[in-house]
Amino acid sequence: MHTFKWGIVGTGKIARRFMQAAFYVPEAQVVAVGSRTQANAEQFGAQFGIPKRHDSYDAVFADPEVQIVYIATPHSLHAENALAAIQAGKHVLCEKPFTLNAPQAEQVVQAARAKGVFLMEGMWTRCFPVVREIIRRVQGGEVGEVRLVMADFGFRPEFDPASRLFAPELGGGALLDVGIYPVALAFLFLGEPEQKVAYATKGATGVDELCSILFQYGSGAQAVLSASLQVNTPKQAYLCGTEGRIELPAPWWKPSEAYLVRNDGSREHLLYPYEGDGLQFEIRHVHDCLRQGLTESPWIPLNETLAIMRVLDALRAQMGVRYPGE
Ligand SMILES: NC(=O)c1ccc[n+]([C@@H]2O[C@H](COP(=O)([O-])OP(=O)(O)OC[C@H]3O[C@@H](n4cnc5c(N)ncnc54)[C@H](OP(=O)(O)O)[C@@H]3O)[C@@H](O)[C@H]2O)c1
Repeated sequence: MHTFKWGIVGTGKIARRFMQAAFYVPEAQVVAVGSRTQANAEQFGAQFGIPKRHDSYDAVFADPEVQIVYIATPHSLHAENALAAIQAGKHVLCEKPFTLNAPQAEQVVQAARAKGVFLMEGMWTRCFPVVREIIRRVQGGEVGEVRLVMADFGFRPEFDPASRLFAPELGGGALLDVGIYPVALAFLFLGEPEQKVAYATKGATGVDELCSILFQYGSGAQAVLSASLQVNTPKQAYLCGTEGRIELPAPWWKPSEAYLVRNDGSREHLLYPYEGDGLQFEIRHVHDCLRQGLTESPWIPLNETLAIMRVLDALRAQMGVRYPGE
């Protein structure tokens, strides 16, 4: 079996979930992990059976055995880490949000295109089988023309001003952490909005803890989206079309099921159960792209990642949320 050799940078929550998901993808071989500290790298490597445990991210980028780097650091480091990995000639899967802002994203995309390496934002929702199925159904006209997308993603973490969720220097705030999911869902079915409005309630650290977003499209379609670090929202999504709607129950960003509800009242259950947390679909998709010699994903195109970053910048400008150095 041909294997794909991964290196991971960062040893936090999502890196752990990535390792658990890699278990379901035998062709994924994680050969190296890098951390700011040797102790973390050792602990993580020992837990998941990763042979090479580096005390820096640079050592992962320089490791000749590593083909693909998975960037699992806070948002504020994504651009720097991705640029270094690309410079070293590695393919890159970078966690969402792709970078802190659009200018950083443009730099990273340009670097990857110049180097000819594969680059993808980890917008893993798009890789779930049920999401691929609802895309087919919507494209096949089964709900008519999608006119309204509604989606929310809000949870209530413990307030810690130093954590990446709340610290401005780490790119804190609801929009970039969870609001990006509803924004990317609206992009998937309606494209880039013509007009956008956002209101935010900021917390003690000055980042958006509660935000509501409205998109208006040239076609007359709309999206109503929300994100929060203050309240647990229903975590559901709806794609409402002229002939019916798709309902994605909670947690809609990693769905195993959806309902196609037609205007005649009929209700079709689309059920695609999976094991574990579901990151395995994204890992498999990266492998498929590499096998085909692609440098970007047709499911998560870089131009769309860039457009999403520009929209996030515009929403943050309206909300008055700026990060240090911006
Ligand atoms: N796809 C998803 O569902 C999903 C879910 C959660 C998060 N994410 C994304 O993945 C990224 C990481 O999120 P996470 O929840 O895994 O974060 P986390 O638990 O805080 O872990 C981040 C890791 O980055 C490294 N790091 C480097 N500089 C740091 C700093 N100044 N402060 C804290 N950590 C630092 C640390 O690893 P070392 O100490 O080993 O260097 C840390 O363990 C975020 O961009 C997030 O949006 C995606």
